[in-house]
Amino acid sequence: MGRVAGKIALITGAASGLGFADAKLLAEEGAKVVLTDVNIEKGEAAALELGPSASFIKHDVSSEQDWIEVISKIDELHGNLDILVNNAGVVVMSDPVNCTLEEFRFANRIMSEGVFLGMKYSMPLLKKNHGGSIVNMSSTASHLGYPIFFAYSAAKGAVRSMTKSMAIHCQAESFPVRCNSVHAGGIETPMVQFAQGRADEAPVDVPAQGVLPADSLGTPKDVASMILYLASDESRFVTGAEFLIDNGLLARPAM
Ligand SMILES: NC(=O)c1ccc[n+]([C@@H]2O[C@H](COP(=O)([O-])OP(=O)(O)OC[C@H]3O[C@@H](n4cnc5c(N)ncnc54)[C@H](O)[C@@H]3O)[C@@H](O)[C@H]2O)c1
Repeated sequence: MGRVAGKIALITGAASGLGFADAKLLAEEGAKVVLTDVNIEKGEAAALELGPSASFIKHDVSSEQDWIEVISKIDELHGNLDILVNNAGVVVMSDPVNCTLEEFRFANRIMSEGVFLGMKYSMPLLKKNHGGSIVNMSSTASHLGYPIFFAYSAAKGAVRSMTKSMAIHCQAESFPVRCNSVHAGGIETPMVQFAQGRADEAPVDVPAQGVLPADSLGTPKDVASMILYLASDESRFVTGAEFLIDNGLLARPAM
């Protein structure tokens, strides 16, 4: 208990999946969590479920105006921000030749521009205190050649490199803010259910304990545990780094 006690955290796309699990674990460990999402109904229900340490703000991460308003509300509400988890995302499935410009822009507006805007507009609050932490959700798709996830992978590749630029910028400017990226792969959430054509089926029941076999999916908690570490002061010597949470996917040789 208390690994992020007293900290203020903003988690985007927190109405479901990984963002909700991040918000839940950060709140359990003592943070005040601000959940944001485009899905107002689910976002409000999610914050209610987490109790008095959680609040919800409607937010489209691709909108510059929304970012200005969200940060201003957090300033009013808490006067501070210690943790930014740029988590909101969408899956776009189209290969490099069939991908339309609109599909490409849609993916990149949310996951590349959204992360840029998040880091930019949160920085004045993040650097106010002694130890801000930005965690950006990238993906194993930024390392691998998945034709069908062309636009998605492009956005996640941008997240991977923006993270390193921001980390080094903060050091160069003596901003007390760290910035790292998390590269998940195969975590059971609504996004993965949709991408695997299982949107109408019950989620796969992944065991909560123990080492998982190579073909297993992971749970949102498996990612949230890494987010918690990166958000906390335990990771104070960690910045500009990327963290795989993929059960060995990228280490596995082709058979
Ligand atoms: N699940 C995985 O295996 C996996 C792997 C790699 C990366 N990721 C990344 O993790 C993040 C969370 O994914 P998830 O699997 O939990 O998916 P999810 O679909 O369950 O959750 C995504 C959330 O983002 C919200 N969202 C979508 N567009 C938004 C916008 N414009 N503004 C604000 N919120 C918006 C959605 O409403 C939803 O609540 C995404 O960035 C995703 O790319 C997930």
